[in-house]
Amino acid sequence: MPMTEFRHEKFRLRHFVPDDAVALARHAGNRNVWQNLQDDFPHPYTHEHAAQWIATAINATPPTHFAIDVNGEAVGAIGYRILPGGYNAEIGYWLGEEFWKQGIATAAMGLMVEHIFSQFNIMCLVANVFEFNHASIRVLQKHGFRLIGWQTATKGGRRVQQIIYSRGRCADRGMLNS
Ligand SMILES: CC(C)(COP(=O)(O)OP(=O)(O)OC[C@H]1O[C@@H](n2cnc3c(N)ncnc32)[C@H](O)[C@@H]1OP(=O)(O)O)[C@@H](O)C(=O)NCCC(=O)NCCS
Repeated sequence: MPMTEFRHEKFRLRHFVPDDAVALARHAGNRNVWQNLQDDFPHPYTHEHAAQWIATAINATPPTHFAIDVNGEAVGAIGYRILPGGYNAEIGYWLGEEFWKQGIATAAMGLMVEHIFSQFNIMCLVANVFEFNHASIRVLQKHGFRLIGWQTATKGGRRVQQIIYSRGRCADRGMLNS
């Protein structure tokens, strides 16, 4: 399978390799990362979780999840899943806390959005973000995502409000859930 890789002056987006598990577990095992991610993201995040995630990512065809690599280390992830029907996709991402506020997520999002819309027949890209996640909301806004709705979600046993952002030709929320 051809390697898909995206280069930026501060990082690379590349395929995962099994050896990423140690770094991934370290960066993902941070509560400040976890608290902004969907409830199924494990915490504590063990080496086993990382290895399992990497195995799934490596086996996906085409590759849908990429390591955010800074200086040879996997310090985060960005990827998407195609929703039922094939025309809508959901994007997700996280970055190790020590790399926050350097513009990395904004740049990675730009590369991934371009990849998704140019390579696949995707019409609508969505992202679900907790209302308190101001950094992620900024990343989405800077890439032209628009607020299309709200929904209630559970996070760590609490009810939280989640905002649905979308970019592209998105019919309505009903279509996204189909
Ligand atoms: C969200 C996340 C990916 C942002 O990564 P990042 O590389 O720090 O983001 P950037 O440096 O590209 O900054 C994006 C914007 O958010 C702003 N920002 C960063 N941290 C912020 C904060 N705590 N509060 C408000 N704005 C913030 C930046 O100033 C920038 O906006 P600007 O260009 O208008 O100044 C990172 O914080 C993260 O991984 N968080 C935990 C997991 C997560 O939230 N994933 C997304 C789930 S929807």
